[in-house]
Amino acid sequence: MRTIQPAQPGDLDALLALENTCFVTDRLSRRSWQHLLVRPTAAVLVSRIDDVLAGALVLLFRRRSHIARIYSIAVSPQHRSKGIGQALVAAAEALAQTSGCRRIRLEVREDNAASNALFARMGYTAFGEASLYYEDGATAIRWQKALPHTE
Ligand SMILES: CC(C)(COP(=O)(O)OP(=O)(O)OC[C@H]1O[C@@H](n2cnc3c(N)ncnc32)[C@H](O)[C@@H]1OP(=O)(O)O)[C@@H](O)C(=O)NCCC(=O)NCCS
Repeated sequence: MRTIQPAQPGDLDALLALENTCFVTDRLSRRSWQHLLVRPTAAVLVSRIDDVLAGALVLLFRRRSHIARIYSIAVSPQHRSKGIGQALVAAAEALAQTSGCRRIRLEVREDNAASNALFARMGYTAFGEASLYYEDGATAIRWQKALPHTE
């Protein structure tokens, strides 16, 4: 069974293992994950398959801002192309919307075909680039999506 839920403090080791499997540069440290798990302006969503952590997404909020930011998304290699990434993004959008946000933004490496394709397919618009954004000097594409307005 597949679920998406907020991460628990006990997920720390599995989140770190996922991070180290999925990223070569710009990895979040154990300390960063510990902080994200308790930070009031962060939400860590995890997807589990039969209770095993298969993917994670970090959503950041800023006080007095209607823009939420997807800070990280990763799915373990053996579970990719099953829609987990898309489901995590949809859950993040729903959470951002219920938290009063009007827009979601994120940055993706320009050479990350899978991730750029995922966000384009989910209705995000590329609205700029940030050069030298990553540790190795790579450029980021900036994506955003307006969330449905409910008032
Ligand atoms: C990006 C990522 C989270 C997507 O997770 P996922 O669970 O595989 O996503 P989904 O199954 O919802 O969608 C995958 C889709 O991406 C697209 N895709 C995958 N690899 C691709 C590639 N090399 N080129 C173009 N599109 C690609 C396809 O459209 C694919 O759908 P399909 O397999 O049905 O054709 C995952 O690839 C990942 O963890 N990558 C490593 C970490 C990372 O790069 N994170 C993003 C940082 S911004």
